[in-house]
Amino acid sequence: MQMKGAVIAITGGARGLGLAMAQHLGQQGARLALLDLERDTLDQAVNTLLDQGIDATAYELDIADETAVSETFAALVADMGPLKGLINNAGITRDGLLVKVKDGKVEKGLSLEQWRQVIDVNLTGVFLCAQEAACRMVEAGEGGVIVNISSISRAGNMGQSNYSAAKAGVASMTVTWAKELARHGIRVGAVAPGFIETEMTAAIRPDVLEKVTRGIPLGKLGQPEDIAQSVAYIFANDYFSGRVIECDGGLRV
Ligand code: NAI
Repeated sequence: MQMKGAVIAITGGARGLGLAMAQHLGQQGARLALLDLERDTLDQAVNTLLDQGIDATAYELDIADETAVSETFAALVADMGPLKGLINNAGITRDGLLVKVKDGKVEKGLSLEQWRQVIDVNLTGVFLCAQEAACRMVEAGEGGVIVNISSISRAGNMGQSNYSAAKAGVASMTVTWAKELARHGIRVGAVAPGFIETEMTAAIRPDVLEKVTRGIPLGKLGQPEDIAQSVAYIFANDYFSGRVIECDGGLRV
């Protein structure tokens, strides 16, 4: 896909991987719509991009809110013109083991609330944004590209029943939508990152993170730019659809 002037929406674009993607694609001439929960972080991100000569606009949005998603996509198309790309990047973790045994007593670990929070954002939010973006792309009749951010945890990871289930769902929706939307000239791909240095991994206990890092064949965490490059590849390669790129330093679970 030609990046120059292309309008691309990035959920969770205010920081971390989303902001790195905005910078990378912006340097190739894309015009970015950053969709995120946090107004202050969003404004900082947009200012950083504008300072670098990148065209970017902020939209405050909770991707799990259906009405807000519809309104935001309508507003961004009205403000910026036809949507050419969506990166479904926003995601959260609320980790917990299924079952806890404390002093010989068996307890429930992960709560229903933690389960719902992650499913609402990481699975339902991805569905809502993709559906809205695909409707706009089909209406405009110029095709487009949707990139979903999954995770290597989609194969199953301790303490992440909710997150792993959502990220597996994201990978399978990628294949489904690639099949459904190809007739409209829309390609759909996904990236499954390993452990990348962002605020999400900064929340992991240092000793656990050190152990994880020792297990990565390349011996280090990835950088947000590494994932931005994988995303950019999906945009660039017009024959790529329905597949997941794993970018994890060789760590696949
Ligand atoms: P992060 O926590 O640094 O940034 C996530 C962004 O999403 C934040 O700006 C946050 O405000 C926004 N967000 C959260 N909930 C939202 C909602 N309901 N609506 C709109 N925006 C919302 O996370 P990071 O590391 O940049 O992760 C980005 C994506 O990559 C996530 O989907 C994550 O699951 C995935 N990922 C990250 C990995 C890592 O090692 N950092 C590894 C594998 C996947």
